[in-house]
Amino acid sequence: MSLNEYVPFLSKILSVQKHTDIEYTFRMAYEGSVNPGQFFEVSVPKFGEAPISICGYGDGYVELTIRRVGKVTNEIFEHYEGDSLFLRGPYGNGFDLDEYRGKELVVIAGGTGLAPVRGVIDYFASNPDQVKNLKVIAGFKSPSDILFFEDIARWKKTSQVILTVDCGEADFECHIGFVTEHISKLKFADESNAVAIVVGPPAMMRFSTLELLKMGFEEENIWISLERRMCCGIGKCGHCKINDVYVCVDGPVFNYTKAKNLID
Ligand SMILES: Cc1cc2nc3c(=O)[nH]c(=O)nc-3n(C[C@H](O)[C@H](O)[C@H](O)COP(=O)(O)OP(=O)(O)OC[C@H]3O[C@@H](n4cnc5c(N)ncnc54)[C@H](O)[C@@H]3O)c2cc1C
Ligand code: FES
Repeated sequence: MSLNEYVPFLSKILSVQKHTDIEYTFRMAYEGSVNPGQFFEVSVPKFGEAPISICGYGDGYVELTIRRVGKVTNEIFEHYEGDSLFLRGPYGNGFDLDEYRGKELVVIAGGTGLAPVRGVIDYFASNPDQVKNLKVIAGFKSPSDILFFEDIARWKKTSQVILTVDCGEADFECHIGFVTEHISKLKFADESNAVAIVVGPPAMMRFSTLELLKMGFEEENIWISLERRMCCGIGKCGHCKINDVYVCVDGPVFNYTKAKNLID
């Protein structure tokens, strides 16, 4: 965190990994602690700022997976390894790993929704003794949209991973169908004590949580991460406010008991 949390600092791009033509992971120099699911405001002077989730972290760096969609993100993609970008943050709460320790955990992610939960999956896939079991359902539009292929292959060594695409050719590595179609196929020892994280487009989160509840999951055992239009990121401007909730500081990660009134 910068000394004044609202002041951006320059961060060097250590490397850039290309996943698709419009989705790259930027490894940025950063010293400091972060939680998976928190976010940084990434800015380019004269173009503006974009909130981007932390999708990975390690000694001296954070990773940001960015989808090129408009003014700011287009400009970020004009920056290469060795260049610098302005960051401020980390902001928001992120995922509290203690909520999931020792339990059956399922992570359900759609598209770039995999980015904010990648750190959580990485942690438990690398420390499988810290959960009863880990299951992941990752859904993408088509095979060419799949992100984090190498991570998914690594997670499969210790966890049950269902990779699915809405359409395209299925093979034994990749299923066809929406993530919701695969949820009821998962087997749990005790659904009422299992915990779930669901991140993706609003409709996908809504139908996935309904499916989990139908299977016997408790509302308080489900977490989601919300994306809202943001500006300050620190609870001052009100851009992200829904009712009395500031998504930027109270979230973006919410327990479903609260999130059920916030999902669009
Ligand atoms: C907490 C949080 C975490 C996010 N994490 C990521 C991430 O890890 N990777 C990533 O690629 N993107 C992430 N986003 C979305 C990202 O911030 C927007 O895509 C970005 O701000 C768009 O800026 P732009 O100037 O390039 O696009 P604009 O030119 O402003 O808009 C282009 C299109 O994107 C839509 N858009 C703009 N802002 C948002 C927004 N906040 N949410 C949804 N749609 C938006 C617009 O409606 C428009 O259709 C996150 C957003 C939030 C709030
Ligand atoms: S983005 Fe300004 S209050 Fe949340």
